[in-house]
Amino acid sequence: METPFSFGTIASGMQFTNRVEELSQLTEHFKYGTNTILISPRRWGKSSLVNKATEIISEQFPEMIIIKIDLFNVRSEIEFYNELAGKVLKATSGKFEDVIKTAKTFFKQIRPKISFSPSPDVEFLLTLDTDETLRQPDEILDLAEKVAQSKNKKIRICIDEFQNIGFFDDPLAFQKKLRAHWQTHQNTAYVLYGSKRHMLLDVFTSPSMPFYNFGSVIFLQKITLEHWKSFIVERFKASGKRISPHLAGLVAQNAECHSYYVQQLAQICWFRTKVTATEKIVNESFESLILQLSLLFQNLTETLTTGQLNFLKALIAGEKKFSSLEVIEKYGLRSSANISRIKQGLIKKEIIDDTTGKIEILDPIYKAWLQRYYFTR
Ligand SMILES: Nc1ncnc2c1ncn2[C@@H]1O[C@H](COP(=O)(O)OP(=O)(O)OP(=O)(O)O)[C@@H](O)[C@H]1O
Ligand SMILES: [Mg+2]
Repeated sequence: METPFSFGTIASGMQFTNRVEELSQLTEHFKYGTNTILISPRRWGKSSLVNKATEIISEQFPEMIIIKIDLFNVRSEIEFYNELAGKVLKATSGKFEDVIKTAKTFFKQIRPKISFSPSPDVEFLLTLDTDETLRQPDEILDLAEKVAQSKNKKIRICIDEFQNIGFFDDPLAFQKKLRAHWQTHQNTAYVLYGSKRHMLLDVFTSPSMPFYNFGSVIFLQKITLEHWKSFIVERFKASGKRISPHLAGLVAQNAECHSYYVQQLAQICWFRTKVTATEKIVNESFESLILQLSLLFQNLTETLTTGQLNFLKALIAGEKKFSSLEVIEKYGLRSSANISRIKQGLIKKEIIDDTTGKIEILDPIYKAWLQRYYFTR
């Protein structure tokens, strides 16, 4: 039997809620070919949102070609070209023979090897000559656009986990190449998305960076408490159990409306509820989630410096004026310059974020663990 909540996979169907405005904005961008950059911290719902938008668009415009690329395991420029070329060839050609034909038509300078794949779920294997491709990636970067023009089609390329280009040998040079090609494309548009808010902000919104003004930047927000409430109430109901709007709100609040955790916590409550959820069940579920993750949190905490921990302690205690002498002394933070270093370190580790102007701990359950178990010791 299917459970009413899901986490860790793309939310779709009944498990996808709200995002009405974001969907309408994204689908407009798909329709008109506006390049889009979608940024949010981890697990707020970027992939699910883009996935849903592509579903809607495919229904509205079945002739539009939508290509999805996930860079989660792509760590070098050559792997990127391989992935891009492979996905574009696959999406724009039908059978194996067509793939060969497309490659022959559009690749003049590079000569990739294309062979039948022994694995049943991959149709063909593409092997690029590394030196040749890195010297002249132009044909790969323009492949989608060339094919789109020759077939008089619109292509939309969605690239997930885009922050992974940070692992490439020379990310800046790579960005320059992408931008130089992609900005000339007429029939092809791009949706680039990922976490590492700080890095992506820098890539897409710093005037000195190649991707500056490449497209419309959307900062994905959290789904609101009200929406989570009705979602949780509905999902309980659909499975023959009950939870009051008040308690559903408590579930969402405990998870600070963090998409992944709201679903996970709601799931734990649902499992523990026979017929009707109680406040005791909601509280115990929250406690159980914190404990489930405590080993992970312990390991994470071991990687932090004393200064970083002191800073988190001050943050959790609700301190705001970090550069005041009182706070510096109370938490042993030494100096403003030191605080600034500590902050950068924690941002880099994606433990805190300050892009909204307020410093926040990104993982609400880690925050609760620190508060209840770590700093009370
Ligand atoms: N619109 C939604 N409705 C309900 N649940 C959602 C929604 N979006 C996301 N979620 C929940 O959050 C989880 C994470 O979503 P998703 O993988 O889309 O986020 P992400 O931002 O792409 O994460 P990552 O940063 O890890 O790539 C999903 O598994 C699902 O449980
Ligand atoms: Mg994702």
